[in-house]
Amino acid sequence: MAEHFLGLISGTSADGIDAAVVCFEPGFKLIAAQTFPYDPDLRHRLLALMQADRINVDEFGAIDVEVGMAFGDAANALLAIANLHPSTIRAIGSHGQTIRHRPQHRFPFTLQIGDPNRIAEATGICTVADFRRRDMAAGGQGAPLVCGLHAALFACESPRAILNLGGIANLTLLAKDQPVRGFDTGPANCLLDAWAQEHLGVVHDEGGAFAASGTIIEPLLDRLLADSYFAQPAPKSTGREMFNLRWLLPKLRGTDRPADVQATLLALTASSIALALSREQPDTTEVVVCGGGVHNRALLAHTKTAVDRHFGRSIRFSNSSEHGLDPDFVEAAAFAWLARRALCREAGNCAEVTGASGPRVLGGVY
Ligand SMILES: Nc1ncnc2c1ncn2[C@@H]1O[C@H](COP(=O)(O)OP(=O)(O)O)[C@@H](O)[C@H]1O
Ligand SMILES: [Mg+2]
Repeated sequence: MAEHFLGLISGTSADGIDAAVVCFEPGFKLIAAQTFPYDPDLRHRLLALMQADRINVDEFGAIDVEVGMAFGDAANALLAIANLHPSTIRAIGSHGQTIRHRPQHRFPFTLQIGDPNRIAEATGICTVADFRRRDMAAGGQGAPLVCGLHAALFACESPRAILNLGGIANLTLLAKDQPVRGFDTGPANCLLDAWAQEHLGVVHDEGGAFAASGTIIEPLLDRLLADSYFAQPAPKSTGREMFNLRWLLPKLRGTDRPADVQATLLALTASSIALALSREQPDTTEVVVCGGGVHNRALLAHTKTAVDRHFGRSIRFSNSSEHGLDPDFVEAAAFAWLARRALCREAGNCAEVTGASGPRVLGGVY
């Protein structure tokens, strides 16, 4: 039986579709990976949909298909680049694009679009999708789901934390003979991206240069950190529906310089991670970092400084590439891993992480 799986995800940043082919037998290996940017018009409509209070059902039905087709195209393009025949892929695991994530709703829900039927038709490959909702139906957050792969790849003798810097930041806490723990700490890049877009007209603050040009506004940082999300115990997960400009703007004063606000937003990401990590796993010896935020040098430096300050000692920071996995494709690899778990009828969630009432096989098969 071929043991190649293909993972597809576009995260909260909606910066593009990450695609990765992974081999699991013998041993884990990333065979090929690439990010395929969304068509700018499609991305624009997706960002509008994420912020919309009301939706047009016709538009919603169509964009679900459009995203599914874009995911199918991404899978086919990666296979062509890697010179792999579709028949060598046992299954695709597609996360889709999150449009809304409401774990605290009276009827908790999470909504990922990108019709998996389209992916299956476009590629001719069995496709597994809709990974989050079974966990939610079992009382969980439906997130984060990357923790299982983090544990499979990065567990070691001493207590480790895996830090994913996407739109949102999430931590996986790995300690020997302990259940895997993990949660979203709050924003990683989503507010930085939004503020850079607003003031520089760019999709992200390259290398964190805009933030580095400003000075942290301490009273603003205190106001931002006072949000109850940061003190809330796990299980918890969040998204753009919470951490966006509508959340930020009322907390600003008219005189705040844009660069100083960016510096403060970067400090918010760094401080909220350091607070959560020192509270939840005070014996951490190493932080393994992944996600697009690894390319923001200023963010990484501030996060390391904040963590060292909260721990009162130097904590080793490493990049997931030092442990054998490209930081830009850890999440895509996780959905390849989740597809494999689904076909093997093995649980995909870590119940301790999501708060589900137990382990569950995740995903529907198309
Ligand atoms: N060169 C860079 N400089 C600064 N930030 C970057 C850079 N490259 C990527 N990023 C950040 O990483 C984010 C994408 O990370 P990713 O892990 O794909 O997040 P998500 O899972 O939310 O899509 C971008 O939105 C951007 O904020
Ligand atoms: Mg992304």
